[in-house]
Amino acid sequence: MTRKKAWEGRLSGGLDPLFESFNCSLAVDRRLLAVELEQDLAWANALARAGVYGPEELAKVRDGLAAMLVEEREGTFPFAETDEDVHMAVERRLTELCGPPGEKLQTGRSRNDQVGTSLRMYLRAELARVDASLLATLSTLVTRAESEIATPMPGLTHLQPAQVLSLGHYLLSCFWALSRDVERVRAAGRRADRMPLGSGALAGTTLNVDRKVLAAELGFARPSENSLDAVGDRDLVAEVSFALAQTLAHLSRYAEDWVLWCSPALGFMRLPDRLATGSSLMPQKKNPDSLELIRGKAATAIGQVCAILSLQKGLPISYNKDLQEDKAGLFSLLDSAWQCVEVFRRVAEAFEPDRARMRAALTDDLYATDLADYLVKKGLPFRSAHEAVGRLVRAAAAAGLSLSKLPLAAYLEASAHFDARALELYDPEVSLARRNVAGGTGAASVAAQLEAARSLLTCLHDPNGSTR
Ligand code: ARG
Repeated sequence: MTRKKAWEGRLSGGLDPLFESFNCSLAVDRRLLAVELEQDLAWANALARAGVYGPEELAKVRDGLAAMLVEEREGTFPFAETDEDVHMAVERRLTELCGPPGEKLQTGRSRNDQVGTSLRMYLRAELARVDASLLATLSTLVTRAESEIATPMPGLTHLQPAQVLSLGHYLLSCFWALSRDVERVRAAGRRADRMPLGSGALAGTTLNVDRKVLAAELGFARPSENSLDAVGDRDLVAEVSFALAQTLAHLSRYAEDWVLWCSPALGFMRLPDRLATGSSLMPQKKNPDSLELIRGKAATAIGQVCAILSLQKGLPISYNKDLQEDKAGLFSLLDSAWQCVEVFRRVAEAFEPDRARMRAALTDDLYATDLADYLVKKGLPFRSAHEAVGRLVRAAAAAGLSLSKLPLAAYLEASAHFDARALELYDPEVSLARRNVAGGTGAASVAAQLEAARSLLTCLHDPNGSTR
């Protein structure tokens, strides 16, 4: 098998066909084509400034790159089976289109600094897309929370009835978690805002290029500080993977709650039909697949965090081909993160809460803490109050009654500090109103929280904005 390779001077004969396809990364890195061409244009200009290209040659290269950009946009770029990766494909095609000047494009550059540069440029755009979806989700949550400030629902810990919550407060809890995700993704992008190009294979290029100018041209804040570090630096891949996996873990937890809420056993919410599926066998079914898939895809995302860290841990310093494996998992994570956020946003926007079912699920035990607090107000130490209410709960269970149905005598037996007014505590509005501490679930607190959420959202709409 005789095939033209960039490194043919050194190695003789053709490649083993299986190894050739094993070695080829085009299926994955062809996504980098557009940013690669952008980078090539800047590099060609730098080569001209360094005296490698004369004006005519540069013009030819620029035309060739422009033609390739059109091919890229139209999806007609002719990748060849023999291209080892996207970088080689561009060099080959450029040479086909403009002859000898194409063969000079790789002067002073290595695929090692090249791939790090393209990857960062690609991520910049992809992360902006996820960012936009997250911001839209945040504003959906604010809107939905706004109308549910005073909607009481049972709050659970350990999946057991705990205390009364407002649905608005619940929805805003999701807002704050996702707002941290936005900030985490942005921080990862900011930290990686350094251009590897000019690092060469590992020791720096011998060409006379102004890397600051090049960095600015390619939209980077600065060039990387150390060529050896730069060619093997995949921190960005790891950080982005973590930030997105954390985002999906958050979505997955809310998805899990909502799957339960959709179950007729709880019946707290209904999904619109367009976000659910039926069963191929059971005619009655309406399954919350949209939410289940978010939960499922979070698992794969978490696997990617482990994969990228494992890829790095045993690698000798500088570039090693193992690093080519950084992209497949990352790209599929980027795709699925965006999809998950979008599907989640649609659910958050359209789900119908069943307020009556939520209210009906407000069992008396949700007020047990309020009863204990009542006794504390009457002067009992909290531990004794806790014990007294515990006895009351036990008495109710033994009598097969709910707490509020026990006679006053039972209350007095549990603690002499009880009186008839304690029975007024079995009221969700009263319970919520007692929790207007900053960050609490009381209506006034949630209203203040909404204000804070709105102003954070305004800050976040500025791409560099953050409060943390
Ligand atoms: N396709 C390679 C990657 O994604 C590009 C860098 C190859 N460098 C090399 N020295 N073989 O990592």
